Order: sequence, then structure tokens, then C-alpha cells
Amino acid sequence: MKTNNKAAIKKAVFPVAGLGSRFLPATKAQPKEMLPVVDKPLIQYAVEEAVAAGVTDLIFITGRNKRAIEDHFDIAYELEAELEAANKTALLELVRNAIPKHINCIYIRQSVPLGLGHAVLCARPVIGDEPFAVLLADDFMDVDAGQRPVLAQMTAQYEQEGASLLAVHDVPRAETRQYGIVSAAPFKPGLELVNAIVEKPAPEAAPSTLAVVGRYVLSNRIFGFLENLGKGAGGEIQLTDGIAALMREERVLAYRYAGTRYDCGSKLGYLKANVAMGLKHPEFGAAFGEYLEDIR
Ligand code: G1P
Repeated sequence: MKTNNKAAIKKAVFPVAGLGSRFLPATKAQPKEMLPVVDKPLIQYAVEEAVAAGVTDLIFITGRNKRAIEDHFDIAYELEAELEAANKTALLELVRNAIPKHINCIYIRQSVPLGLGHAVLCARPVIGDEPFAVLLADDFMDVDAGQRPVLAQMTAQYEQEGASLLAVHDVPRAETRQYGIVSAAPFKPGLELVNAIVEKPAPEAAPSTLAVVGRYVLSNRIFGFLENLGKGAGGEIQLTDGIAALMREERVLAYRYAGTRYDCGSKLGYLKANVAMGLKHPEFGAAFGEYLEDIR
């Protein structure tokens, strides 16, 4: 079975055109990716994860009402001038360092919400013939101190295997309808060989309970399949269906990541992420922990 060449992963796609309807009314006039976990927007965590994995080109697949994302990663001229004049250097650094200088941000508009597979296909002209990463910012991935961020774990695996990788974890069978679900066979420690993938199956139809979360390393050959896909689950062009087609031509591996995933597209998952990150916050984590103890 063919595998990719093992070119380093330098490009990452961030599909951010979604409407965030699970998070209304908060997302009526602002992108869900700009919701903060404690003090940083979700998209900034995802960008930092990509940069920590060695990515240099960030490709945002954006849409109407998403300008705040572009502004967040741009120079905030007036704000910076004000902070500089007031000598507020710590704040100035925070504002300036949303993104390192050597990183390129590329914005592509997805004018019609045709689905995640279509969003990824929109990145094709920029990706060219390289393998690439996809990060869904509302899947917030936390790791323990000393652990590598999840995408860096995956790019390290990619360097070994040269094959597409999907981050996976086990979910309760009752929740299979929320995920792409894979069926996979043992391959190497931490890695399984995907032999089927299906988008949001009913619990009784799911081939397993191994769910894909929003981190992917993909072969560029996926584009050829995505462009020929019809509508899949939910009437959308599904990335999952593109992966199912790719899998017949190339090895696709499921990677059981080390870390904790919070579904920040849901209100409960978002609350949990805020509590977890609040407790870890260097300035007030201890005080927040005491507060939580008090109110129990
Ligand atoms: C998307 C994918 C799904 C994946 C999930 C992870 O679904 O289509 O395969 O399991 O992300 O969060 P969404 O959550 O956008 O409906």
C-alpha cells in the first residue's frame, strides 16, 4: 500500500467558517473560535499548537462575520500605539505576540457552508502537493506539563510513518452520532490501521466507539477525493467521506493522543475547559481552586 513522502508538515488548515449554532446567542455576532478559554480565544490555542508542531503557514477557511479572527492575528495599530505611549509593556507584548513574526496567515473565504470536507478543499490552491494538518479550534486539546501538544505528537508520528493520521479517542456508544467513527486494527503501539470510517453513525450502526477528534495530518491526495464527493451525512460534503476514499488508496492511521479534549463547541465542554484552564492559570489558579472548594 502506498504512503506519502515524509515531507515535514509546514501548513495547517483551520476551518473557521462554521456558524457556531450550538453556542447561540454568544455566537450571534462573533465567531465561536473567538470565545475565550480563560483569557485567550480558542483559535489562538489552536494556532499555538500548530506553531509548536513546526507549522509556518496557517490557512484559515473563513466566512462572513469572521473578521475578528483576521483582526486578532493582525497588527492592532491604535491599541499598540496607546499601550506603548502608556508604557504598558506587558500588555503590549500580549497583543503583539498573538502570532510569531515568521508565521504566514492566509485567509480563504468559504462563501457557502457546504461542510468540513468542502472547507478543507478550499485550501487546495495553497497546500499544493504537500501533506498538511487540519485543526478544529473548538476541539480544545490540553496536555499535562511536560507533554508535547497533540499536533506535535502527531507530526512526530508522521515523520516515522509517512501516512495520514487521525487523532482518536474512545467515546460512550451513546455519543457516536457526534463524531466520525473509525474501525481500526492494531498496527503499532498507540497507532491503529483504519479500515473503515463513517460520519456520525447511530449508536447501533457504529462500527466501534473510536471517535475522531479535530486533529488530522492528511496526504494531499485527499483533495482529489474531496472534489468528487457528493453530499454525505447532514447533507454536507464530509471530510470523513474523503478520508474513507483516501483509505482505499493509502494507509490512514488512527492515533490515540495523550491529552484531554474538551468539546468547546458545546456549552458544557466549554465550561469544563474554562475550569480546567482556570485551575492551571499561573496568576490565579490556586485562588480559583480555593474558591471551587468553598462553593462545593
Ligand atoms: C467534525 C467531523 C467529525 C469529527 C468531529 C470532531 O464534526 O465531521 O468527523 O469527529 O468534527 O470534533 P463536527 O463536530 O464539526 O460536527
